[in-house]
Amino acid sequence: MDEALQNRVPIDTTAYSRFEARPVTGTFGADIEGIQIAAAIDDNELFQEIRAAWVKYQVLFFREQELEPGQQLALGQKFGEIQKLGYVGSLEGFEGVWVQEYPDMYEGPVADINWHADSSFRDKPTRGSLLYAHAVPVGGGDTVWADQCAAYEDLSPAWQEFLRGLTCIHDNIANNPWRVIDEIGGKALGDMRKYLPPTEHRVVCTHPESGRQFLFVSELMAREIVGMGRQESRAVLDFLFAHQTRPEYQARLHWAPGTLALWDNYSTLHRGIFDFGQSHRLMHRVSFNTAWI
Ligand code: SIN
Repeated sequence: MDEALQNRVPIDTTAYSRFEARPVTGTFGADIEGIQIAAAIDDNELFQEIRAAWVKYQVLFFREQELEPGQQLALGQKFGEIQKLGYVGSLEGFEGVWVQEYPDMYEGPVADINWHADSSFRDKPTRGSLLYAHAVPVGGGDTVWADQCAAYEDLSPAWQEFLRGLTCIHDNIANNPWRVIDEIGGKALGDMRKYLPPTEHRVVCTHPESGRQFLFVSELMAREIVGMGRQESRAVLDFLFAHQTRPEYQARLHWAPGTLALWDNYSTLHRGIFDFGQSHRLMHRVSFNTAWI
């Protein structure tokens, strides 16, 4: 086993004044019990504790929540600026509450889902998201997150130094260009790329709040390492894709109606697990931005 993994000190439970954060893995993610997150809309002390837990654990899970769309938006607004333009439409009357409903969402250019950080192809990637389950399959339909701080910290000093000098092009069709062309056609693709051009980001970023360094590439969005030939770039990215999603860095959530996940979209990757065929899965999502690093 890797020395870094053997020597890791696992994260621990934290007692906040209104709730306890209980780790769901050794490196990140926590269950928050005993509160209704909607109460934090008008209770700033509670909100600040949830925010502190979010920065520390990176992904928080809240079970048995009652959350109206307007409340989900109000919570998002407390964290940052609501991201209005999504890859799916907003709930009528609630701009910024994106409706993610399956099996409908299997169709369309975003249907090929792989590990990613939302909107990493934008100059200012999404800062965080609140995903709330309304209807879920009996089995399956989980979501998995991967801790990019731990993935970076476990690399050898030589790899860390090498990666700190690199930047990567993020492109929202990097993973499936031919499918997108077939689905929407060359003209629409050209228009889309004027509006959402590929963007360059550092491979290793420093978190604006925790100060930790994290890997910022993903299999869905990373197209190439800048300044490298195709084969060199592929070798670096293939190594990173395999390393950054090792089971040791993963936290997996099995949803029930009323479960809410709040994640840090800078320092984690995520991936929906679409193993539920034609079963109904309905999620409401609110994403928010803050200043990028
Ligand atoms: C996503 O990739 O943003 C969706 C995650 C999910 O629905 O589980």
